[in-house]
Amino acid sequence: MKPKLVITRRIFDESLALLQQHFDVTDNQNDETLDQNELAHRSAQAKALFVVATDKLPVPLLDAMPQLQIISTGSVGTNHLDLAYCAARHISVTYTPDVLTEATADMAWALLMSTARRVTEAEQWLRQGHWDRWAFDQFLGVSVHGATLGIVGMGRIGSAIARRASGFGMKVLYHNRSQSEQAKALGATWVDKTSLLREADFVVLVLPYNAANHHWIDAASLAQMKSSAILINIARGGIVDDTALAQALSSQQIAGAGLDVFEGEPVVSPALLACKNVVLTPHIGSATAATRRAMSMLASQNLVAWARGELLLTPVE
Ligand code: DGY
Repeated sequence: MKPKLVITRRIFDESLALLQQHFDVTDNQNDETLDQNELAHRSAQAKALFVVATDKLPVPLLDAMPQLQIISTGSVGTNHLDLAYCAARHISVTYTPDVLTEATADMAWALLMSTARRVTEAEQWLRQGHWDRWAFDQFLGVSVHGATLGIVGMGRIGSAIARRASGFGMKVLYHNRSQSEQAKALGATWVDKTSLLREADFVVLVLPYNAANHHWIDAASLAQMKSSAILINIARGGIVDDTALAQALSSQQIAGAGLDVFEGEPVVSPALLACKNVVLTPHIGSATAATRRAMSMLASQNLVAWARGELLLTPVE
């Protein structure tokens, strides 16, 4: 008998076809919103779960899945999973590193460029029919070339962002728990948090979210940034205090922000929505067709490896 697998979200057809060869699959190709009761009901007999970064799996829900042996998340982030609990119950956890590195680094740059050059604000103005003449002082942004980039979190994605910065002739600073030779080779210099916030023209957040860095950017951090600085968050919402950020943006304490992730997503704070100097995207950092397919496939291949009793491809360790 094939083990029972529950998939919480719609996945790509080729991934589903692969999984159906090895599992008795309960899929969600209609992409219904599953509340905790429904997920508990579907997963009561499940040995395997395929989830994504926005699936919350609190302990009582996992307790309602006594047969569960593996969780495969189609994400590089694992902050939605209680890894200590999974380890204690000997539930294997896999994730999808590497396959999304370049796409997410590209998106950090897309947000950086569009915020620096006010692309979405200018486009909306044009669409609204306001454009009747060229002017020297229209939509003045901030220069990217030659500016100082401050990367917070110098892992795979942070390094890929730094690599791109050399084409823009930027000085690259980074802040990370540890200093690395790889970062040095990319021309990036380690600095403490205060120096990074004070010196960077662009502060890009790429660190994994955990309880220790909740509101890593708060009112005090924002006060340390240059008034011309731009904040980019491509990591997780909880890293930034959205209320403090909206206040800093509306009072022009900092020049702008580009945000792909939010504290209460998919709900975005009305105060942020009201700010003109912020570019907002709906958690699409990894969303290229090729990358999302690769994430879906890697998450599936991890499950298949488990079903075959083989080594997991990308276990969370
Ligand atoms: C991730 O992989 O963690 C991204 O946030 C997409 O969910």
